[in-house]
Amino acid sequence: MLHLNAIGKAKPFIKWVGGKSQLLQQLEKRLPPELYEEEFTYIEPFVGGGAMLFFMLQKFPNLKRVVINDINRNLTDAYKVIKQAPEGLIYRLKHKEQQYLSITTEEGRKDFYLDMRRRFNEDGLNKLDKTALLIFLNRTCFNGLYRENASGSFNVPFGRYANPTICNEGVINADSELLNRYDVQILNGDFKGTVKYLDASGLNFFYFDPPYRPLSKTSSFNSYVKEEFNDGSQRELAVFCRMLSKKDNIKWMLSNSDCSAKNPSDTFFEDIYSGFDIQRVYASRMINANASKRGKLTELLICNYDSKANEHIIESQLKIAL
Ligand SMILES: C[S@@+](CC[C@H](N)C(=O)[O-])C[C@H]1O[C@@H](n2cnc3c(N)ncnc32)[C@H](O)[C@@H]1O
Repeated sequence: MLHLNAIGKAKPFIKWVGGKSQLLQQLEKRLPPELYEEEFTYIEPFVGGGAMLFFMLQKFPNLKRVVINDINRNLTDAYKVIKQAPEGLIYRLKHKEQQYLSITTEEGRKDFYLDMRRRFNEDGLNKLDKTALLIFLNRTCFNGLYRENASGSFNVPFGRYANPTICNEGVINADSELLNRYDVQILNGDFKGTVKYLDASGLNFFYFDPPYRPLSKTSSFNSYVKEEFNDGSQRELAVFCRMLSKKDNIKWMLSNSDCSAKNPSDTFFEDIYSGFDIQRVYASRMINANASKRGKLTELLICNYDSKANEHIIESQLKIAL
């Protein structure tokens, strides 16, 4: 019998703090115009949930090579599993979905969740089982967070959802197809390692979405892994970006929090990225424990090229579409 895999629209297969789905239109407007004209290598050193990655994979058929990286090994292993073994993953997730949804009491579901969390944190699981648990936990934990404690264990509490979708088969298949079509290289480590993957003879585009610098001591989330990303790391990243700018054929775009909007004397980013194109874009931040504090904030978008140069291309595309 012919077996047709359900295939949907490619998008993040996991909910990730700092996800860029809401900002994609604004990011698209500020891409370098060259991307519409020639082949290029796309490198995303802090890929997280990959909203920008899946956008780029669908938007630019002229991608020559794609490299993604994240320091969180559970996450990069999940990308590898989606690329290499989508069917095994779907099989496991469907099974977990059945088990979970057949439990009718909240207490029972919580016990099941805590059992899965304990298993996830045990050593010795293979990548496929670990990824199935990662996605299960992401769908059923509080706010879809991923957070590790000081010893590197996932420690997010149970979330109360009546009917969570645990297996999104269409998304997994669509993501897998794109990761294979472009044979995306999946790296695990510090962002600086991506420099080795530059295409010396062609155009390169980097999108950097590092952990955001906290706007205040209590407001922001910055615990994707046990190693923290502090002001020293932000400075190292700025040095890295300056180094890239000195080479030919490298364009980059970087997102971060808008610290000077909150506190005008805090010009941290204006200082470390002085001389580059710094714009403000609107973003709605959903991760704030206090619902009344969730709202529209500006974020910084910093580029090593004129980020307004592309607006006319987008506008003319819109006119054609109309
Ligand atoms: C703001 S998130 C990226 C969000 C992503 N753009 C999305 O749409 O979901 C930042 C990511 O940087 C990763 N990270 C933290 N420190 C890192 C480092 N030194 N090198 C590379 N990745 C790092 C975290 O694990 C996290 O996934």
